[in-house]
Amino acid sequence: MEQLIDPFGRRVKDLRISITDRCNFRCTYCMPQEGMEWLPRDELLTYEEQARVARVCVEHFGFEAIRITGGEPTLRAHLPRLIGMLAPLGVDIAMTTNGVKLAEMAHDLAAAGLRRINVSLDSLRRETFLRLTRRDDLDRVLIGIDAALDAGLHPVKVNCVVIRGVNDDEIVDLAAFGRDKGVGVRFIEFMPLDAEGSWTMDQVVPSQEILERVDAVYPIEPIVHGAEPATRYRYRDGIGDVGVIASVTEPFCESCDRVRVTAEGKFRTCLFALEEFDLRHILRDGDDDDVLSREIERAVGTKWAGHRIGQVTFVRPSRSMSQIGG
Ligand code: GTP
Ligand code: 5AD
Ligand code: SF4
Repeated sequence: MEQLIDPFGRRVKDLRISITDRCNFRCTYCMPQEGMEWLPRDELLTYEEQARVARVCVEHFGFEAIRITGGEPTLRAHLPRLIGMLAPLGVDIAMTTNGVKLAEMAHDLAAAGLRRINVSLDSLRRETFLRLTRRDDLDRVLIGIDAALDAGLHPVKVNCVVIRGVNDDEIVDLAAFGRDKGVGVRFIEFMPLDAEGSWTMDQVVPSQEILERVDAVYPIEPIVHGAEPATRYRYRDGIGDVGVIASVTEPFCESCDRVRVTAEGKFRTCLFALEEFDLRHILRDGDDDDVLSREIERAVGTKWAGHRIGQVTFVRPSRSMSQIGG
């Protein structure tokens, strides 16, 4: 089997598929409050088309992981059907969700073949949660996390975007929550992908500072690091682990192994890519798998070394996180 190697010698083997641009939240760091126009239904890839891209990546290039993202993936009808189509590929299948619909869906997703899940949760305080997500759904997300654990999804990870002056006073509380529940909390540095373009560097809480605050209350030690964006630490008392995703202060681009497909079938080789490759017309023109895999190869040939957040040469992508897919 062929391997996909990008111009910087990195092997690409992780595919993220955004299955919808819609979301039932409006997180301030991700989406504008109003004025989002959702894609018309016929512009979204169908489950068959998404599963075909996934299959070609696995069969032609040995991809090892597929992640379902959004927008909010649980808004797409009959989601277990897609999971059921991906599960036979035999690779790591995961999903990143805001968790609000997990109480009703976690068991069906697990039964369809989903193994693990990442849930976004940025605050344990009702007011702050509402301010950040513009939805009063903290309790539903907490119940959703319980439902995911109950359904046997493992691991359940919690993603927490830290914004200075908004939720950074909750770092220790969130770490304690993770320890109590048996879920790994990952603190994420706020990236300039917010829809309103209001990101500033002083809102970013550096991972180093996050770790120091956790360590002061619950001492931690590093765990050997793989290709994943999160740097992980275990609690010295043996009760679980915690991670940081230092996209801004310590970019992990040199070990990046991922590519993405947006909800309308645009292939992107970086979260911050400015160029996209349209797979939808290939999928709908009756072309065979070789045409599709050649286009994927061509796109990967343009993958760049990494983003340059904070440098003068940094250009913000015109799309926000919700449209690109976390
Ligand atoms: P696993 O560790 O396999 O669960 O994957 P993950 O941590 O990448 O999954 P998830 O989709 O939950 O992403 C968590 C966060 O990592 C996102 O919210 C982003 O902030 C960040 N992230 C994910 N992919 C990328 C990427 O390609 N580049 C950068 N800079 N950050 C990313
Ligand atoms: N910076 C960092 N993380 C972000 N996410 C969304 N927008 C941003 C941003 N601007 C995260 C969400 C979720 C994942 C899909 O992406 O919190 O965990
Ligand atoms: Fe929706 Fe996730 Fe974006 Fe929040 S971060 S608005 S939950 S897509």
